[in-house]
Amino acid sequence: EKGGFDHFMLKEIYEQPEAIRDTYRGRMLPEKGLIKMAGIDDHISKFLNAKRIIIVACGTSWHAGLVAEYTFEDLARIPVEVEYASEFRYRNPVINKDDVVIAISQSGETADTMAAINLAKENGAFVFGVCNVVGSSISRATDAGAYTHAGPEIGVASTKAFTTQITVLSLIALKLGKEKGSISNSDFNMYLNELELIPAKIEQALESNNHIIQVADFYKNARNCLYLGRGFNFPVALEGALKLKEISYIHAEGYPAAEMKHGPIALIDEEMPVVVIATKKGHYEKVVSNVQEIKSRKGKIIAVVTQGDQQVKKIADHVIEIPDTFEAFTPLLTTIPLQLISYHIAVMLDKNVDQPRNLAKSVTVE
Ligand code: F6R
Repeated sequence: EKGGFDHFMLKEIYEQPEAIRDTYRGRMLPEKGLIKMAGIDDHISKFLNAKRIIIVACGTSWHAGLVAEYTFEDLARIPVEVEYASEFRYRNPVINKDDVVIAISQSGETADTMAAINLAKENGAFVFGVCNVVGSSISRATDAGAYTHAGPEIGVASTKAFTTQITVLSLIALKLGKEKGSISNSDFNMYLNELELIPAKIEQALESNNHIIQVADFYKNARNCLYLGRGFNFPVALEGALKLKEISYIHAEGYPAAEMKHGPIALIDEEMPVVVIATKKGHYEKVVSNVQEIKSRKGKIIAVVTQGDQQVKKIADHVIEIPDTFEAFTPLLTTIPLQLISYHIAVMLDKNVDQPRNLAKSVTVE
């Protein structure tokens, strides 16, 4: 049932190329220059007239929502707020009739996310679900939706659900961007062609697995770990830190790289590994100077870089390469090595990877 893998988590990490193909299959039609999604097509005016999109989710799904904030604002020029469902539901939030609420949930059963949906509906908002489990409570409670089609996710630590959520949300952002004219037809087509290449690029990223095992071995005894990223990859830093915490029980924090100097830099010494996402796109030079600052404080740097990178390679203690892609799609690639690092460290520490202590696959009570 684990298909030759030692754990479901590893199997699911390796399933990501196929899962993403399943997510966009039949929806993305590059030869026609079209994205077809019934849940959006049937309610297109709701989306085009939306003054704002509010995304509600928990945990890893919330991180996918944060990536979507960058994608929706960049490609579709719609303002986005991303909320922890648990905070939103009790905050007496301002919800307007022309808000579109997007709820993201792998299981479709998360209690806080469900409560946030009910609150949004009571206030007259249109609620769209992005779920993985077909027929789940959230998929039934929402006005419309799009499934991720990632297949069953058994490992408690979410992996393929995250990347397929980002894929669905990117498709929606691209579709709305095209409808609104905020991206040109030729850019739209370029994005579609690039998205089609992502599964093969994830396969390439997975080829670093043996190298990542060596990196993991180097850091497995760390007590703390910092994850830094900017722009589209800031949420990936949060997700990388969450994965490490969840399955290896090593304390980890994710930060937007520029926030480092507002506090976390005080933590940096020779005992502190810092995982930095430093891909060629988006703020590269600024992240390089963060890497230099970490180095000069003797922090240990593990950098996720674009293939062929020269600058970071000279400074970092370890580099893990990923293929080049459009900035908006980099999270789909940068996430892969971070999942693998956590996985291998947890295995080396003899932790229960698929069933980490104190965690449940779906959190059906608040
Ligand atoms: C992280 C993880 C949790 C879930 C969260 C939301 O690896 O598994 O943080 O992401 O409980 O779950 P869903 O997406 O099912 O609503």
